[in-house]
Amino acid sequence: MSKSSEPAPLEARSSGPLTGKVRVPGDKSISHRALILGALSVGETRISGLLEGEDVLNTAKSMRALGAEVKRTGDFTWVVRGVGVAGFAEPKTALDFGNSGTGCRLVMGAVAGCPITATFDGDASLRSRPMRRVLDPLALMGAKVADGADSGRLPLTLEGARDPVPITYRTPVASAQIKSAVLLAGLAAPGVTTVIEQEASRDHTELMLKHFGAEIVSTEEGAHGRRIALTGQPELHGADVVVPADPSSAAFPLVAALIVEGSDISLADVMTNPLRTGLFTTLREMGASIEESEVRGDMGEPMARLRVRSSKLRGVEVPPERAPSMIDEYLVLAVAASYAEGTTIMRGLKELRVKESDRLEATAAMLRVNGVPVEISGDDLIVEGRGYVPGGGVVATHMDHRIAMSALVMGLASDKPVKVDDTSFIATSFPDFIPMMRRLGAEFS
Ligand code: S3P
Repeated sequence: MSKSSEPAPLEARSSGPLTGKVRVPGDKSISHRALILGALSVGETRISGLLEGEDVLNTAKSMRALGAEVKRTGDFTWVVRGVGVAGFAEPKTALDFGNSGTGCRLVMGAVAGCPITATFDGDASLRSRPMRRVLDPLALMGAKVADGADSGRLPLTLEGARDPVPITYRTPVASAQIKSAVLLAGLAAPGVTTVIEQEASRDHTELMLKHFGAEIVSTEEGAHGRRIALTGQPELHGADVVVPADPSSAAFPLVAALIVEGSDISLADVMTNPLRTGLFTTLREMGASIEESEVRGDMGEPMARLRVRSSKLRGVEVPPERAPSMIDEYLVLAVAASYAEGTTIMRGLKELRVKESDRLEATAAMLRVNGVPVEISGDDLIVEGRGYVPGGGVVATHMDHRIAMSALVMGLASDKPVKVDDTSFIATSFPDFIPMMRRLGAEFS
């Protein structure tokens, strides 16, 4: 399955100070989970601030195909009437997740605990991404891959378990998608399903499961890890979810304000869950002025208003154990590092190779084509910041929204404009990105 829209190239050029107050769209991770848990609950779930990007809309469609009632009742406001744990109906056609690894892998987990068969598909980017990392633990729980097992790639057909078995699973890589898939399948299993991670990944699934009434206990494991124990077969009840603004989307205007001289912007309601804020920590170490106010929280998810002012940045070393808390932000960090003075070394980026594109190679290519010295050494990325970026390059998007947005940010302060070959994938996560950046003062043409 593929995306129908034509490639939409765009150029970003050196802009005057960025100013103003904006709220970036709702968090993508929380939006997917609110729809899925709403669909697995009994009763009504009201979601406000849902991200209405293509990735999340595909998850909404898949929940409908699996028997839940999912309605849009206003701007970013949705109501889900669920079918209860293990209550999914067999979908009549393949579930198409478009560009979204999260939607696909989390729904695989939810389907694995139901006695139904479903086919999973996506666009060319998603078809190239590894699914075995999720299918392996789901097979231990009793699900079977009926079709597509050899390749471990989409399209594939999954037969859910009739009698799912609870397991104790050590995730081989720090991945919230793997953890969440196992926990969602574990909802349908009798007894306790345990996931052990050596390095803690984002914990939105755990927090939201608790919010919907599940018994779930998370404890520390080793220096950076966690052990999460979920008691199966809970009665999940519909709950209200207020989705905070996505820190991974906020990252783009934030870095843009840091690098464009004289900028002063304010970003409302940005989620500040510590398992998502590695970028903010790193940028502060680099000398960034990011002030938090209006700190509050809901459902265990903290949020704050961020005031960001342009700052003189210096290169730093980013330790590998920080990667899970900023895994989607390295592209835009590399842009900040290009404008910094000195070397930035980002360590332990192996997982970047299996995202919407090979982001390790794509980041290096984005910098190189715009005249920034950069090197990949094993799993590390090394950027030689010189305080300025020559620009003048055309960046290949590779069906990856975050490459497109990072490159456009880079062009807002470069000597020559930066062009991207295709902005259409930005709609997967941040449909309003171009107009919102223009409102702040960004010059795109
Ligand atoms: C996500 C987890 C991360 C991240 C993705 C969203 C999630 O993937 O890259 O954008 O919502 O669980 P991994 O868990 O595979 O690292």
